[in-house]
Amino acid sequence: MTNTATMKIADQEYSLPIIEGTEGERAVDITKLRNQSKGCITYDPGFGNTGACKSDITFIDGEKGILRYRGIPIEELAEKSTFTEVAYLLIWGELPNEAQRKAFSELLTDNALLHENLKNHFEGFPWNAPPMAMLSAMINALSCYHLELAAPCAILLEEAATKLISKVRTIAAFSYKMTRGEPFIYPDPNRRYVSNFLHMMFSLPHDTYEAPPIVAQALDKVLMLHADHEQNCSTSTVRMVASAEANLFSSVSAGVCALWGRLHGGANMAVIEMLESIREGGLSIKKCVELAKDKNSDFKLMGFGHRVYKNFDPRAIILRKTCEELFAAIKHQDPLLDIARELEEAALNDSYFVERNLYPNVDFYSGIILRAIGIPTNMFTVMFAIGRLPGWIAHWREVNEDTSMRIARPRQIYCGYQKRAYVPIEQRP
Ligand code: ACO
Repeated sequence: MTNTATMKIADQEYSLPIIEGTEGERAVDITKLRNQSKGCITYDPGFGNTGACKSDITFIDGEKGILRYRGIPIEELAEKSTFTEVAYLLIWGELPNEAQRKAFSELLTDNALLHENLKNHFEGFPWNAPPMAMLSAMINALSCYHLELAAPCAILLEEAATKLISKVRTIAAFSYKMTRGEPFIYPDPNRRYVSNFLHMMFSLPHDTYEAPPIVAQALDKVLMLHADHEQNCSTSTVRMVASAEANLFSSVSAGVCALWGRLHGGANMAVIEMLESIREGGLSIKKCVELAKDKNSDFKLMGFGHRVYKNFDPRAIILRKTCEELFAAIKHQDPLLDIARELEEAALNDSYFVERNLYPNVDFYSGIILRAIGIPTNMFTVMFAIGRLPGWIAHWREVNEDTSMRIARPRQIYCGYQKRAYVPIEQRP
């Protein structure tokens, strides 16, 4: 197979190298096109056809519904691994041996506390502040308390990464307590990662919450399945900010803001709002499907469709099963699960969704699991952020260690006014 592509612009031909990834993905390398063609660039709004980098972290085959972290299938990790082990795998590239796993786990335990002064920042927020706004601000504020780790280089990454992964749960739980007017519950060093988070969320000074193991396992799985998804909007944001040599805390804080959007991490909240609206009779399943198909309406079937997956999102399959197992084990019932199943069936049998390859994505079932655990809807995207953090850190590291990386700076096709004169105010219409 030829390893060059030929591009013809007017009468001029350009030979462009083709690069190939380890799974056979091919890309036309246009890095020299603008220079060679004296100004011609490519146009790809939304970057659906653009490879922004080479990466070793996560492989997705959207046509076949494949997702692998560092080569390991997500199904295998979901069955055999844990969120913190997956975090290690993503950031450092290999599964930890026993000594490495223990050391990582101890570092996570040692770093769970926030600096006492950092707690005061919560008082500056109104009681009903959106948790994602607080999360982003508090992660950025960590730079102020760990100046030595706010360097734009990867030398102290192990310390910065473990601090961030550990403290993010404390920040999330404290923000929840703040909005409820309840006292902060400090992390308990004898608890594992997820059960410690649930303790900080739901314990009260006079009443300690003990999460049933199946609940902690379900949440662990939700976090693990969100841990990375290659060049999605928030990860690309982290990489872009990192390319300017911004520190880990500020790069991740920017990723949190990107994740907040309704079309990205915010979709898990939107799914529940949509299902609630069906339950309350504001919408019927039929109406929902009709509206989603109507090009005059901006309604979308939330939790459906994906830029990359044109087949089942493998994470949605695992989460649907996790959801059913959890509900059976804790004898929980939620009418939203029945509505979700019906809606899924209606959409999967509708030609609009079939022709466009629109399937449930990770957000379709994650919200129902989080609800069963007791996480309030406005914290769903925060849970996504806690899960995605190891991926963001792994990508930040990759950017920092790539000596050929340049600051990310796309170009544009300018379509505004051509040169024109300034009009004094008294002459303006
Ligand atoms: N409901 C109805 N129609 C949809 C949906 C949907 N959820 N998703 C895509 N479509 C339609 C589009 O209108 C388009 O139709 P057309 O070809 O007639 O114009 C076609 O399917 C192709 O969709 P695109 O808009 O090209 O898909 P894109 O890759 O740009 O968007 C996205 C992907 C943002 C995920 C989209 O499917 C969506 O908005 N889904 C709902 C929100 C959601 O669940 N987001 C979570 C994504 S997963 C994550 O971030 C973790």
